[in-house]
Amino acid sequence: MDNRISITDLKAKKKRGERIVMITCYDYPSARLLEVAGVDILFIGDTLGMTVLGYDSTIPVTMDEMLHHTKAVVRGSTNAHVLADMPFMSYQTSPEDALRNAGRLLKEGGAQSVKLEGGVCVAETVRFIVDAGIPVMGHIGLTPQSIHQLGGYKVQGKTPAAAVRLVNDALALEQAGAYAVVLECVPLELAKTITDRLAIPTIGIGAGPHCDGQVQVFHDLLGLFQGFAPKHAKRYANLGDQITAAVRDYVNDVREGSFPTEKESFLLDKAVFSEAARIA
Ligand code: KIV
Repeated sequence: MDNRISITDLKAKKKRGERIVMITCYDYPSARLLEVAGVDILFIGDTLGMTVLGYDSTIPVTMDEMLHHTKAVVRGSTNAHVLADMPFMSYQTSPEDALRNAGRLLKEGGAQSVKLEGGVCVAETVRFIVDAGIPVMGHIGLTPQSIHQLGGYKVQGKTPAAAVRLVNDALALEQAGAYAVVLECVPLELAKTITDRLAIPTIGIGAGPHCDGQVQVFHDLLGLFQGFAPKHAKRYANLGDQITAAVRDYVNDVREGSFPTEKESFLLDKAVFSEAARIA
C-alpha cells in the first residue's frame, strides 16, 4: 500500500498552522511532476471537462471520465493525497446514488477522498457518504455545477444575507463530517471568518490569503489554457507558448529535412548491409 497523505495529516496541518497545497491534476505524467514538486493534494477536478476534454462547462462530465483520469493520477503518484471530484448528477439525485458513485471513485479509481459541491442542501448526503467510511471535501461559494442557477461565474457572498448563508453552509458541512471545505470566489474577509469558525481546513480559490490551503487549476498556473484566465490565478509559466514554439521547430525541421539525422537513426552492421545488398 502507498504511504499517502491522509485526511488526518491534512487536518493536523491546520492545527499546526501549515498551509495545504492542492492543484488539479488529470493525468499520469502531471501527477509524477506535481508530486516531485511537493503538492499535498492531487485533485482530479471536474474542470477536466473544460481543460482536457474541451467541453464548455463542467456539466457534461461523466463518472466514467472521472474514473479514467483518477486512475491515471493514482498510477502517477505514491505520496500525495488523491482527491476525486463527483461530477454533476452523480450525487444530486439521492444519498444512495451519491454513496454508490463516491464508492466507485475510491474502489475503481483508487482515490482517497471525494469532493462535492453545495452546503446545507447536501449536508445529509455528505453525512451518508462519510458514515460509510468515505472522506468528503465540501465546496461552497462559486459552485460551477450550478452555473445556470448562479447566472455566471461570479464572486459569491457579497450581500449580508448571502454571506451568512455561506457561513451556515460551511458549518453544516463541518457538522456533516466533511474533512475540509473549498471556498471558491468568496471575498477574503468572509473566507477568513469561515476559516476562523471551522476546525477543519478551508481550501481557497479566489478566496484570499487567510484560508488554510489553496487550490488552483493546473492549466491556469502553467499557461496551458489559452482561453480566459481568472483574476485569482497567478501564471507561474507560459508552457502553452513554449509547446507551440517547440512543436513549430519540429514541424520546420521535418519539412526542411534536418530531422531526423543519423544521430536519431538506427544503423545496420556493415557486413549485414553488404549481405543484404547482395541478396536483394
Ligand atoms: O473542478 C475543479 O477544478 C474545482 C476547483 C476549481 C476547485 O472544483
